Amino acid sequence: MKTIIPIAAVCNDMGIGVNGMLPWDLPKESDYYNRITSDTKKGGKQNAVVMGRKTWNSLPGRLDGRYNVVLSRHLKERPTGVDLVATSLVDAVKQLSDPPLADKVDKVFILGGSGIYKESVESPLCFRIYLTRIMADYECDTFFPEFNTNLFHLVSDPDVPCEIQEEKGIQYKFEVYEKKV
Ligand SMILES: NC(=O)c1ccc[n+]([C@@H]2O[C@H](COP(=O)([O-])OP(=O)(O)OC[C@H]3O[C@@H](n4cnc5c(N)ncnc54)[C@H](OP(=O)(O)O)[C@@H]3O)[C@@H](O)[C@H]2O)c1
Repeated sequence: MKTIIPIAAVCNDMGIGVNGMLPWDLPKESDYYNRITSDTKKGGKQNAVVMGRKTWNSLPGRLDGRYNVVLSRHLKERPTGVDLVATSLVDAVKQLSDPPLADKVDKVFILGGSGIYKESVESPLCFRIYLTRIMADYECDTFFPEFNTNLFHLVSDPDVPCEIQEEKGIQYKFEVYEKKV
């Protein structure tokens, strides 16, 4: 099975969403998210982005240059712009890991929301987590789960700026966690 890589932006209380949308509007943070989830060094392959149906609904459209996977237990049809609908995270990762998709897909990023992040960070398939820590308070109704920080440690990555970012007066920093071996 391919490994899975959750990627999320969280505010001070680990909030990720409100009323079905992001609580903030930080275009440069979105640029980072798009760069990380699109980058692949394997020619001819694309990364997959796996998300819940509500997260999909929060987007203006498909995430171009990536294989868009939506998790739903109820969708009867594949929405326009979605490449694959799967009924569970395990089913999605299995399909992405088996032929014919295995040869087309490089990394598998997990875009949330809440329950899918929880299942992901607790999965033995998760070795890396990208978190953007937004150092501000926002009213949220959806949260990133607690994860076992004894199992993961912060690492530096040459593709990830380590200095504090600032946009529209809001400070944030990019973090990368890896599972301890
Ligand atoms: N800050 C961030 O980085 C970030 C990232 C992602 C999302 N968000 C925010 O988070 C909110 C959405 O997240 P959410 O937690 O409310 O919803 P969600 O996880 O995106 O979507 C929930 C829906 O996904 C399907 N689903 C969830 N887990 C599943 C599983 N294991 N197997 C099959 N289907 C599954 C179900 O769809 P059906 O009802 O169709 O069965 C469920 O109702 C929005 O506010 C969004 O903006 C923020």
